[in-house]
Amino acid sequence: MSEARSFDADWLALRAPADAVARSSALTRRFAEAVAAGEQRPARLLDLAAGTGANLRFLAPRLGAAGIAAQTWRLVDYDPDLLAACIDACRTWAGSNGWSLHDNGAGFRIVADGWHASVRCVRRDLSRGVDTLPVQPGEAVVTTALLDLVSHDWMEGLVRLVDRTGGPVLATLTDDGLLRFAPFDALDATVAGLFEAHQHRDKGFGPALGTTATAVLAGLLGRTGWPVAVRRSAWVLGAESRSLLSETIRGIATAAKEQDPSRTTETEAWLARRVSQAEAGGLRLVVGHRDLFAQPKPSAGPTP
Ligand SMILES: C[S@@+](CC[C@H](N)C(=O)[O-])C[C@H]1O[C@@H](n2cnc3c(N)ncnc32)[C@H](O)[C@@H]1O
Repeated sequence: MSEARSFDADWLALRAPADAVARSSALTRRFAEAVAAGEQRPARLLDLAAGTGANLRFLAPRLGAAGIAAQTWRLVDYDPDLLAACIDACRTWAGSNGWSLHDNGAGFRIVADGWHASVRCVRRDLSRGVDTLPVQPGEAVVTTALLDLVSHDWMEGLVRLVDRTGGPVLATLTDDGLLRFAPFDALDATVAGLFEAHQHRDKGFGPALGTTATAVLAGLLGRTGWPVAVRRSAWVLGAESRSLLSETIRGIATAAKEQDPSRTTETEAWLARRVSQAEAGGLRLVVGHRDLFAQPKPSAGPTP
């Protein structure tokens, strides 16, 4: 049974600063260099499951700094509320940086220092697959915090899409299963095991790859001949990020209870202990993620 869930804008806003810190700067730089080396001007980028546009807000200035002055973004998501919130989030962000945002009805345009981006939000249910998405040669494909939700079949469709596009790929903040709590609690391993099992339940895309998603994508891309690089991008949550820490623990406990309702009482007691430690600044949690960057395979070139 599918358990497609919605992600609210408050949760995405809460996690965005931790995501920005966690992301691999080496892979961001390599992605920007690959986009800069491409022939498209403006550079075209497709963000799958864009939510309120956090990936755009992270990447666009860094692409700008890498010399990509003209950018065209398509942000795809199935949640109309998140897509509607995207323009407000981008307006606030642009304003806080002293940049301008112009709404042209069909989308919006951000004019920043040394770069500009035309952005269009597209509502689409990606669970139907991505093979048939219209793309242009060389278009870059990015996605953040999506791939642990998808199935193996869906991932094969993503690889066919990027192989057709031939542009660079950056897939960031995919769960990798690491959950490390300090101090220790006797129920941590049980709750983490239930959470891990829950990660593989159907989230609307078929049986989810969960914590294996990055390895599966790396394997599929590798088999098509694409060079792939993977780096860790863990959140390290503690006293300075209490709200995100508490919300993360609540999410873990909710999934654990869904996975094994017979352990609800124990899990709720664990949650109460962990939230009270988090609120007192006495809990540290490392949540593992992976970033993946893939480059188009080198063109065959003339035969020697
Ligand atoms: C964890 S959020 C990440 C959002 C955004 N990439 C970010 O980093 O803030 C997962 C996103 O996947 C989207 N999503 C989930 N299922 C989807 C589907 N079937 N089609 C399109 N988007 C979907 C959600 O609406 C949500 O925006």
